[in-house]
Amino acid sequence: MICDNITVKDGVLHFAGQNTVELAKKYGTPLYLMDEDKVREKCRAYKHAFEKHFGPEAQPLFASKANCFKRLYEIMTEEGMGIDVVSSGEIYIAKQAGFDLSHAYFHSNNKTDEDIAYAIENGIGYFVADNVEEVKAVEAEAAKRGIKQKLLLRITPGIDPHTFAEVATGKVDSKFGSAIETGQAEEIVVYTLAQPHVELMGYHCHVGSQVFGEDVFERAAVVMLEFLAEMRDKHGFTAPVLDLGGGYGVRYTDADPYLDIEKKVGEVAAAAKAACERLGLELPEIHMEPGRSIVADAGMTLYTVGTVKKIPGYKNYVSIDGSMADHIRYALYGSKYTCLLANKMDEPCDFEASVVGRCCESGDIIQDNVMLPSSVGRYDTVAVCTTGAYHYSMASNYNKLCKPPIVMLRGGNESYIAVKRESFEDLCRNDV
Ligand code: LLP
Repeated sequence: MICDNITVKDGVLHFAGQNTVELAKKYGTPLYLMDEDKVREKCRAYKHAFEKHFGPEAQPLFASKANCFKRLYEIMTEEGMGIDVVSSGEIYIAKQAGFDLSHAYFHSNNKTDEDIAYAIENGIGYFVADNVEEVKAVEAEAAKRGIKQKLLLRITPGIDPHTFAEVATGKVDSKFGSAIETGQAEEIVVYTLAQPHVELMGYHCHVGSQVFGEDVFERAAVVMLEFLAEMRDKHGFTAPVLDLGGGYGVRYTDADPYLDIEKKVGEVAAAAKAACERLGLELPEIHMEPGRSIVADAGMTLYTVGTVKKIPGYKNYVSIDGSMADHIRYALYGSKYTCLLANKMDEPCDFEASVVGRCCESGDIIQDNVMLPSSVGRYDTVAVCTTGAYHYSMASNYNKLCKPPIVMLRGGNESYIAVKRESFEDLCRNDV
């Protein structure tokens, strides 16, 4: 199986040790499941790898955009993780969950004045400023309040991570950050150092997401350290913090490799330490912001089959009770997933079909070319694996479908609701 929390017992798919067909019955479908133990295991793997390879000051931050709900922030607090947030909405939810916002880093390429004020008011630890205008706006708000606000600068290192275009962010023409190549990175450093109400703590880069490239993070670390040394030499400022962003890839199908977090972090650390030695630098406090690689394989979505349509000589469709509203990544990026017929795991998969949702749109596809047992029919349970990242957080109410609940699984036999299923009332709560 693609992840060690997926097993089969008596022909039934089990997730985190629990019977998925029973869970579908108990909580209804569509249903997002989250394996709490797996989330914790991943946080610990990052914490351990960081401490071992980068030292006790190093800090992994969970990228909230991958998945964001109160219970998850409670788990992040318990696991001693920092977080990255990209909107006042994420800040609000983290705060509601009691997360200590002094360990939060506020990203995005366009924070409004309201966002900046809201973040400072709520004690955000760090801004990650994207451009000079943003530094100016943070400076103005901090000056108004008579404080000195810590911030990092998002720098574009000019590295192609070889992932899908929508999530490649480290190239010079990216909408994010200030590029080293164009001189804008130096410009923003000089500008920031001259501001009395912001304290420049270091640099940040994020090259992309779902990255498997051999040495992408190593190259990014080296480019960023060279920049750090250049700023030291030219402007006498040695940044204490370097954040290398998120992006490690996960296994959606058997074709994807498995990344060993400890090994990957170790490789980046080796490259960073060698660069520091060459440049006469002390290793800065290293941060990384994994999102997907912490929560993706802790997630699974369950659906119930409605109709099976066979168009002889053409194509077969298996329609489920969810849609692109809870599973947008295939429609948006053509992302591959592993779909399983949870209640018939011991039958041969000899029937090819497109698993489709119930939105009024032909592009509402969960996955094409899925092999399922030929007996697939109404009331069967379809499981889509590796849906813990960028599913709930990207879900919509298109066609006025209610968002599924999130049920947490732990200890091999315990389950509880972390996010309730939306109701029809929720759908028009703001209508006046
Ligand atoms: N830090 C920054 C600044 C980011 O922009 C991102 C992701 C991350 C960290 C976390 O990256 P991760 O470890 O999750 O790859 N909706 C897309 C993914 C967009 C990612 C954007 N930035 C998807 O579903 O594939």
